[in-house]
Amino acid sequence: MGKFSHAAVAALAAATAHATSLSDLCTVSNVQSALPSNGTLLGINLIPSSVTAGVTTSSGGMGGMKKRADSYTYCNVTVAYTHPGKGDKVVLKYAFPSPSEFKNRFYVAGGGGFSLASDATGGLEYGAASGATDAGYDAFSYSYDEVVLYGNGSINWDATYMFGYQALGEMTQVAKPLTRGFYGLDSDKKIYTYYEGCSDGGREGMSQVQRWGSEYDGAITGAPAFRFAQQQVNHVFPATIEHTMDYYPEPCMLEKIVNATIEACDPLDGRTDGVISRTDLCMLNFNLTSIIGESYYCAEQNYTSLGFGFSKRAEGSTTSYQPAQNGTVTAEGVQLAQAIYDGLHNTQGERAYLSWQIGSELSDADTEYNSDTDSWELDIPSTGGEYVTKFVQLLNLDNLSNLDNVTYDTLVDWMHTGMVRYLDSLQTTVPDLTEFEASGGKLLHYHGESDPSVPAASSVHYWQSVRAVMYGDLSASESLTKMADWYQFYLIPGAAHCGTNSLQPGPYPEDNMAIMINWVENGVKPSRLNATVSSGDYAGETQMLCQWPTRPLWTSNSSSFACVHDQKSIDTWTYEFPAFKVPVY
Ligand SMILES: *[C@@H]1O[C@H](CO)[C@@H](O)[C@H](O)[C@H]1NC(C)=O
Ligand SMILES: *[C@@H]1O[C@H](CO)[C@@H](O)[C@H](O)[C@H]1NC(C)=O
Ligand SMILES: *[C@@H]1O[C@H](CO)[C@@H](O)[C@H](O)[C@H]1NC(C)=O
Ligand SMILES: *[C@@H]1O[C@H](CO)[C@@H](O)[C@H](O)[C@H]1NC(C)=O
Ligand SMILES: *[C@@H]1O[C@H](CO)[C@@H](O)[C@H](O)[C@H]1NC(C)=O
Ligand SMILES: *[C@@H]1O[C@H](CO)[C@@H](O)[C@H](O)[C@H]1NC(C)=O
Ligand SMILES: *[C@@H]1O[C@H](CO)[C@@H](O)[C@H](O)[C@H]1NC(C)=O
Ligand SMILES: *[C@@H]1O[C@H](CO)[C@@H](O)[C@H](O)[C@H]1NC(C)=O
Ligand SMILES: *[C@@H]1O[C@H](CO)[C@@H](O)[C@H](O)[C@H]1NC(C)=O
Ligand SMILES: *[C@@H]1O[C@H](CO)[C@@H](O)[C@H](O)[C@H]1NC(C)=O
Ligand SMILES: *[C@@H]1O[C@H](CO)[C@@H](O)[C@H](O)[C@H]1NC(C)=O
Repeated sequence: MGKFSHAAVAALAAATAHATSLSDLCTVSNVQSALPSNGTLLGINLIPSSVTAGVTTSSGGMGGMKKRADSYTYCNVTVAYTHPGKGDKVVLKYAFPSPSEFKNRFYVAGGGGFSLASDATGGLEYGAASGATDAGYDAFSYSYDEVVLYGNGSINWDATYMFGYQALGEMTQVAKPLTRGFYGLDSDKKIYTYYEGCSDGGREGMSQVQRWGSEYDGAITGAPAFRFAQQQVNHVFPATIEHTMDYYPEPCMLEKIVNATIEACDPLDGRTDGVISRTDLCMLNFNLTSIIGESYYCAEQNYTSLGFGFSKRAEGSTTSYQPAQNGTVTAEGVQLAQAIYDGLHNTQGERAYLSWQIGSELSDADTEYNSDTDSWELDIPSTGGEYVTKFVQLLNLDNLSNLDNVTYDTLVDWMHTGMVRYLDSLQTTVPDLTEFEASGGKLLHYHGESDPSVPAASSVHYWQSVRAVMYGDLSASESLTKMADWYQFYLIPGAAHCGTNSLQPGPYPEDNMAIMINWVENGVKPSRLNATVSSGDYAGETQMLCQWPTRPLWTSNSSSFACVHDQKSIDTWTYEFPAFKVPVY
């Protein structure tokens, strides 16, 4: 017999007459008696007097990764804990579904940008309890970049480690005994624990499987913004090329280069459907110089750039005026695009980082119109600019003000400083997932192949690092088989950053959680990833996506594709980074 809380025992006693209701369980005293006592979870002292509990009905809104229409009735619990001897306070929120809907699951949703998720209701649609944490820096009100510096030169390491991985891990650790106690379950009852997130939410998920491997049964991680130092500084790379070339093209020209690339490379995968399903074949067979001389036109507009949710300031969108743009693609424009797709090298020609796949939008290269001078000027994306000022230079500034004296070597130095300084907090590329694997965890990792923010090759590189570190002594086919048993990676043809791409009407996965639950709870291992085309001529089509390292190939526009092994293609996705003397996983 396990540990039963008072209300749960009372409710069970009454259960012969009528089933336990949510309101029977949703009391402060039931939650308090379900809290793990001090000393049970090392380093976490829960504060019973902080508990609140109340039955609440959600009004739809965001649930996990999707917009949700349904509403759910759940028990809204908050509780605080402190780290022994530290005097800090971390506030946790939990949402517990009705006992009749609860399926012994716990669900953790990822956040995005510099924010952890603040909503705890994402699991309700899966019959899962779920939680969110304020990480001890009031993360429900502030994003991490707002608190990373106490002042110039002074890093808030507590917030950094909490944001990096610790807060979510502790929230999940507390959740399990709390959930069992809340529902009056045996203390050894399995609570299937899931993680789902994209972008920084993908990074957060990777942080959990790297650091708290045995806490999670299934993790779904999209386009993880990990390898944080390289990833964030890379946002400044296109602007640095422009600054170095002293060349600031109209955004319409870059848009044309992207459109023309898509048109030229779309058929290389065997079907002309508006989607480059094989950016590797595009890289191998298409020469951007063929676009020189093509004309472009964009009407006058008030242009809204979405940003990628990095930094509170850039959250949401910014609008700027763009006059009509009419011209022809120049050799310099193509040289710029080629340099971006080639990726950062130091002045010795050694590669420092990978890049966005050819055909991805060149958003970070967008220039800004100055109506006073009627010219296009440098625009430093604050995603990268803020990372450099706050995390590398340690100055409490939201953006770089210029790129004076910034060379490719400077970018490499910034990456190096960021990587070394935050190697054990933000970098999030620990490649040994043995604990996660050994405890039965399953990892579903995906990435939009035309992601213009977090390069798709960034995910491939991590998958390759895990394979090399964990199975380096096995043959190629043995290591592939072993990996696929618990870690599967999928590229989503044409997709952008954590979503579909308006320039390429390709497939997108919609039911990852269903797939993951089936894998974890029923042992049904996927071999392809179910995705649906949502727009264009093929809207509604199901595509069972190819598991990496196989790649899709259609023949003669047929309606289905094969998943082929193509070493030449894989090689285009394989990088080394000799500009750094330490391994970059
Ligand atoms: C656990 O420790 C915290 C702080 O050290 C204290 O506030 C709390 O009352 C303790 N919990 C119990 C159940 O004694
Ligand atoms: C949950 O409870 C907390 C603490 O009482 C409260 O601040 C919060 O608004 C509640 N959330 C909802 C969705 O009712
Ligand atoms: C690029 O393609 C998109 C979508 O087809 C279109 O809306 C846009 O006008 C095109 N831009 C240019 C410069 O050709
Ligand atoms: C692309 O074509 C140009 C012009 O013909 C040539 O100089 C360049 O080497 C080609 N690039 C590649 C990668 O083949
Ligand atoms: C852009 O916004 C300005 C100011 O709001 C407005 O006057 C102008 O008509 C808009 N232009 C377009 C093309 O929408
Ligand atoms: C773009 O410029 C060309 C050449 O100057 C001109 O013929 C054409 O009409 C212009 N197009 C638009 C839409 O303004
Ligand atoms: C960042 O700074 C640059 C240079 O001052 C500026 O062009 C750009 O608009 C800024 N970005 C944001 C999002 O504020
Ligand atoms: C931090 O440094 C920046 C850049 O030198 C400066 O503008 C700002 O005033 C400084 N802030 C404080 C609080 O010293
Ligand atoms: C750039 O370098 C020049 C020459 O070394 C120096 O005079 C100037 O102050 C530097 N500018 C900045 C912004 O660091
Ligand atoms: C694929 O996902 C769609 C959308 O969620 C679902 O309707 C369909 O049943 C799934 N198909 C397979 C083969 O799993
Ligand atoms: C595929 O279809 C496109 C037009 O939709 C056509 O241009 C192309 O020739 C077709 N390719 C093959 C191999 O049939």
